[in-house]
Formats: sequence, C-alpha cells, structure tokens
Amino acid sequence: MTGRWRVTRITLKSPHVKGRARAGPESVTGTGDDGRMLADVIDLLLCPVCGGRLTLGSGTVRCENGHGFDVARQGYVSLLTGSGVPGTADTPAMVAARADFLDRGHYAPLADAVAGWCGTADVIADAGAGTGHYLSRALSARTAEPGTTGRTAEPEAVGLTLDARTAERETVGLALDVSKHALKRAARAHPRIGAVVADVWRPLPVRDASVDVLLNVFAPRNAAEFARILKPGGTLVVVTPTAAHLRPLVDRLGLLSVDADKDRRLEETLADRFAMAVQDDLEIPLALDHEAVEAVVGMGPSAWHTGGETLGKKIRELPDPVHVTASFRLSTWVVQK
Ligand SMILES: C[S@@+](CC[C@H](N)C(=O)[O-])C[C@H]1O[C@@H](n2cnc3c(N)ncnc32)[C@H](O)[C@@H]1O
Repeated sequence: MTGRWRVTRITLKSPHVKGRARAGPESVTGTGDDGRMLADVIDLLLCPVCGGRLTLGSGTVRCENGHGFDVARQGYVSLLTGSGVPGTADTPAMVAARADFLDRGHYAPLADAVAGWCGTADVIADAGAGTGHYLSRALSARTAEPGTTGRTAEPEAVGLTLDARTAERETVGLALDVSKHALKRAARAHPRIGAVVADVWRPLPVRDASVDVLLNVFAPRNAAEFARILKPGGTLVVVTPTAAHLRPLVDRLGLLSVDADKDRRLEETLADRFAMAVQDDLEIPLALDHEAVEAVVGMGPSAWHTGGETLGKKIRELPDPVHVTASFRLSTWVVQK
C-alpha cells in the first residue's frame, strides 16, 4: 500500500451506536477448541428449524426440540437448512484470494474505519463476513487503547468512548456467511468470533433485537432481517465500492464495473427500515504488484466471469507496480422500530 488515504464526510446526523449489558449465556458447556469458538455467541442463535433457543453440547449445537447441528472441526456451525447453497457463496479459490489480498494490508484503513463505527457495542455481527477480516479488526479495536483504532476523531465527536478494560470481557462477534470455506477462516480470525453458515436471503438464525452493530461489507443485504436482529437504535454499517473503485484495472482487465445506480438501490432497499446517519467516502491509493492484482481480481465479483490465460497475459502487461485507487462508500444506518 502507498500514499495517504482520505475520508470525505458527505452527511452527518447522529449515529446511535449503543452498548448494553449482554445477557449471560445459558447452559453453555465448553467442548474443546471447536465448541469454545461458539460459546460466546450461542445465546444469540436460534434453531433454523423451529426457532427455539440453542445450547452447545459436545461438538453439537442443539435446540430444546431436539434439532441438532454438528460443529465443524474448524469451529463453525452450519445453521442452513435444506440442501441448496446459494450460487453466490464464495468458492475456496475466491476465499484464498481474499485472504491473500487482505493480509497484505491494502484495505487496513477501511478495516480501521469500519472498526471506528462499532463504538461501545457488546455484540457485533457481520452479514457476509467472508474471512472475518473486518469483524476481527472491530473486535481487536475494542481491546485496544482508546484512540488506537486508526479512526480519526469522529466516534468521539458523536459521544462514543472506548472502554478498553470492559471491552475485552464483553464484546463478541458473530460472523454470518453462506460460504463454509470463508467461515473456516472467520472462525479462527479472532478468539471471540463465532461463525455460523447462514443465508441472508432467508430468515437469519439469530434472536430478535440481539445485535448492537451489524456490519455488511460488499455483501448481500436483507433489510427486514437486519432490522429484526438489531437492537432498537442499533446500527447497520454498510460498505460498498464506488464507481471509481480500482478503475484503471477495471478498464484494462475488462472487470465488472460498479453500477452507477448502486447508491439509489441501496437507499431503496434500506429506506423502509433504516434511517441513514452518516455517509463517508474513503479513498486509498494503492501500488499493487502483479500478485496483488491477481488476488484482488480473484476475490471479487469478476472472479465469476473472468480468468484464464487472457487475464494472466493482461496482468503481465500492466506496470509493476500498478497504481490504482480503492474507493469505498461507508454508510451507517439506524434501525427504525
Ligand atoms: C465480496 S465477499 C465480502 C466478504 C467480506 N465482507 C469482506 O469484505 O472481506 C461477499 C461475501 O458474501 C457472502 N455471501 C454471498 N451470498 C450470500 C448469502 N446469500 N448469504 C450470506 N452470505 C452470502 C459470500 O460468500 C462472501 O463471503
């Protein structure tokens, strides 16, 4: 990564990020490494078959009506019912490319910005969490010293404070994604992440009004379900790419471009249940070597449509490094109940 990143504030109302005492877990038993990863979030989850409360047993999550779900060796649990997984689930190759690219730190300013919006939340969920990169950063920021989230003064400016002593004990993260390949990584991305396979287009296996902050970073949205699982006054943090995102690469490699109408569609999707609080634009100048270009192409929507020798040849013809700008829009939305 090179250069200085820049945030442009578009609008400012008053984001209402709340922290509340979290209900204690009920009858959760430790089950070794795999179970422990879910112990922090089990009291947030619902049986996808009957809607009953879940408890964690030995390698299994089970409801009061006897529906059981195996905890995978890697620590996630699938609460997806039926046999079909949506075709939008990230593949192992996409997940590997995403992990490779994000591990290089290119989007660190974005992860810091997202973490900065988590305020004093006790429960942070991430819908379409992928490898858990952003959720993990948000949880780490809650244990950091005040002022080290990388975020500028905005959270303090709206009255949010970071209490490092209580954060470590209280804040938990729930990673939701339909790709088990992504969740294998998310489950291990942070000790307080619980990872659950779920489809955002279906009822989420999450209790009503149980989440303080819900992240949604380049992932599908379900306004009704998001509003249901957020606590009254809870905040949805949405990140979308702008039409300028990676533009020279989009043109030179023939990648899918961002729909110019995206903002209007986002607003339309959320407007019934949410009120927009803040909108920021974040631009990060990047110098990408060819491996990083391959990774950023492989992790994005173009991975479904492009690839092969032609793409490889086009990448090799790029300058090394190639200078591009990552361009994101962050918006926070307060649930209206
Ligand atoms: C572009 S990736 C973003 C991942 C992560 N938020 C990040 O930025 O690193 C989109 C994610 O949404 C997940 N996804 C796609 N369709 C989904 C659905 N119907 N329900 C839940 N997750 C879905 C994919 O598996 C993938 O992990």
